[in-house]
Amino acid sequence: MAEKTEKIDIKIELEQKASLVNEVIAAVIKGFVGIPDRLREAIEYTLSAPGKRVRAAVVLLCCESVAGNINKDAEIAAAAIEMVHTYSLVHDDLPAMDDDDFRRGKPSCHKAFDEATAILTGDALLTMAFELLSTKISEPSKAVEMIKTLAEAAGPAGMIAGQVDDLLAQNGTGSSDNLHNIHINKTAKMFAASALLGAIAGGASRQQKDLLGRFGLKLGLGFQIADDILDVSSTSTQLGKTAGKDAEQGKLTYPAVFGLEQSRKKADELANQAAEILEPFEEKANMLKGLVLALLNRTK
Ligand code: IPE
Ligand code: IPE
Ligand code: MG
Ligand code: MG
Ligand code: MG
Repeated sequence: MAEKTEKIDIKIELEQKASLVNEVIAAVIKGFVGIPDRLREAIEYTLSAPGKRVRAAVVLLCCESVAGNINKDAEIAAAAIEMVHTYSLVHDDLPAMDDDDFRRGKPSCHKAFDEATAILTGDALLTMAFELLSTKISEPSKAVEMIKTLAEAAGPAGMIAGQVDDLLAQNGTGSSDNLHNIHINKTAKMFAASALLGAIAGGASRQQKDLLGRFGLKLGLGFQIADDILDVSSTSTQLGKTAGKDAEQGKLTYPAVFGLEQSRKKADELANQAAEILEPFEEKANMLKGLVLALLNRTK
């Protein structure tokens, strides 16, 4: 019964966090002037589609775990990371990458508009996120630390490295080490950055940042394994994107290398390890622990 109540709590919590960040994103976009109409339309189209906003939730809950409450800096950082993440999806769906026509239950950006607009929408979202951090964070030192953290995670030795290696590994016989590196780079580093942005917003100590960074990596790796599992075990309607694509495209995934059962075991292990890292935060991290279970056992 207690477990059931916790599950409902975290579901409501995630819905509240998602609607908070949706409001912040909408206000942020409105605040940008001089954007050509067609580009603005494509930006609004992609950002208003129902993303789960889990990276934003990680930012907000990490700030809460450190400071006891959410502040404006955490809200801005949550919007920024969702903008960078959304850019990565717009580009990931392009014909030159995963070639996916559906995203968040709607036609992908390049289908609803055209390829050039999708490329430029991704470019715009990425750039706007950094402009946002540079102008709206309360203290310059926090802004610079956030910008550095996000740039490293999303950059050529982070998410972009993972995307490059993901494409290179297609239709190959990649090793489990290669698979692990791809998932750490393309997904886990952005989760670690989410946790760190929340920590920075909340004024975390060096030790707290170290813990939350390690927590984010475990959670992010588990999240990508769960994404691989869902690609095999769920439906396009449920996921809002095309199911079964990884096998069709010969992607190097956890189910492809380890099988479904072992992949589920690995995701569970990572959930436990992530929760263990949070122990020093005691009950302040209860929601964050709930989030770990909700994300790694999700259905979409
Ligand atoms: C999809 O991320 C890409 C991965 C890194 C697995 P999400 O599952 O968080 O996608 P949205 O933001 O909810 O659409
Ligand atoms: C995408 O991984 C990771 C990104 C950095 C965008 P996937 O290619 O597995 O994501 P989905 O399944 O298309 O959402
Ligand atoms: Mg991909
Ligand atoms: Mg993809
Ligand atoms: Mg996937």
